[in-house]
Amino acid sequence: MPLTRKAYRAAILHSIADPAEVGIEASYEYFEDGLLVVDGGKICALGHASDLLPTLPADIEIEHYQDALITPGFIDTHIHFPQTGMVGAYGEQLLDWLNTYTFPCESQFGDKAHADEVADIFVKELLRNGTTTALVFGSVHPQSVNSLFEAAEKLDLRMIAGKVMMDRNAPDYLTDTAESSYVDSKALIERWHGKGRLHYAVTPRFAPTSTPEQLTLAGQLLTEYPDLYMQTHISENLKEIEWVKELFPERKGYLDVYDHYQLLGERSVFAHGVHLCDDECARLAETGSAISFCPTSNFFLGSGLFNLPMAEKHKLNVGLGTDVGGGTSFSLLQTLNEAYKVMQLQGARLSPFKSLYLATLGGARALRLEDKIGNLQPGSDADFLVLDYNATPLLSYRLKQANNIAETLFVLMTLGDDRTVQQTYAAGALVHQR
Ligand code: GUN
Ligand code: ZN
Repeated sequence: MPLTRKAYRAAILHSIADPAEVGIEASYEYFEDGLLVVDGGKICALGHASDLLPTLPADIEIEHYQDALITPGFIDTHIHFPQTGMVGAYGEQLLDWLNTYTFPCESQFGDKAHADEVADIFVKELLRNGTTTALVFGSVHPQSVNSLFEAAEKLDLRMIAGKVMMDRNAPDYLTDTAESSYVDSKALIERWHGKGRLHYAVTPRFAPTSTPEQLTLAGQLLTEYPDLYMQTHISENLKEIEWVKELFPERKGYLDVYDHYQLLGERSVFAHGVHLCDDECARLAETGSAISFCPTSNFFLGSGLFNLPMAEKHKLNVGLGTDVGGGTSFSLLQTLNEAYKVMQLQGARLSPFKSLYLATLGGARALRLEDKIGNLQPGSDADFLVLDYNATPLLSYRLKQANNIAETLFVLMTLGDDRTVQQTYAAGALVHQR
């Protein structure tokens, strides 16, 4: 065996299916004393240490983590890179918040030095929180996407991003035109889409900030290039929904606007979807589109609510998004903490294994990347985390009282945050060490 191989020994847990489809017990694999073997940026073996150790060469390097849990890297299916500098800003309503904080903050990203500086902070923050793949909104400026992709490329991260397309109902200093958004997006696609582990997402901000001409051209880009992503917002806020009705009176509803412009599909991810109805969920599922559930985004009286049971009924793919800066945390552990409460408040349940699924394999499925990321099956990219059971005195004490992996997992999701992430590995390389 070549010596590029390295093994990691610890407790290991990953999702292998959606608990809604196969039941909780069949949805995960857990190895109390597990071994993960990595070669050339990919996982080449996973199993019990006692089974795998005898098969390895005597001189293979083995990293042994005590009191720790290895999981797949987390996947954030909705986040705004140029809102890093305004996370946690006071807000009451979505549309006022956009005008007061978001647009001025995003206006700085035409400047390369600024975009580079924030890209560096943003990528470090993702990795500190254990997020190894994210679907990212840039600003309207192509430079924002160049800076982000340059930072991600240096670390060989699997990252998806796009320049916001926005040609109306925003300040002049932050709008493009239908034509320029098409040309600029195309240039970014040519430069980045499919380069290493990078992918491009066509990114109309949301229906109110795009003219019909711009939405038409967004749809055209999707037909011109294979495997492009599409990301936007949908049905997050009641005033927003009323506004969409006024702007597109000829359409049946919010989703129908996107449907009309051919923006639904297997690589289309819609953020929030708080007020979607049954028929809209069915249509999203039918087209293979996905929803990004953003439970830490509750600034605007409920942007983090979501009817997960309805999505499950329709077998609609759902990933988990932080929605930073509308969302208040980069941590998908903290986002799961909120997700649990959001479900409880709606009278539904969220098991720790469904939570794990949402943050890993469910996100990968929403992004059609489940053969590459989201679990630790041999052949997958070696994107994984080491979560520290002793990250804080309270966590350490609390986990000693846990009787099984279900309890341990749930406590990690309620008490855990960036401090819990001891190491983050991407393509087999150590990219964050706490
Ligand atoms: N809708 C349109 N733009 C945004 C944004 O930046 N954040 C959120 N949460 N919703 C939006
Ligand atoms: Zn958002």
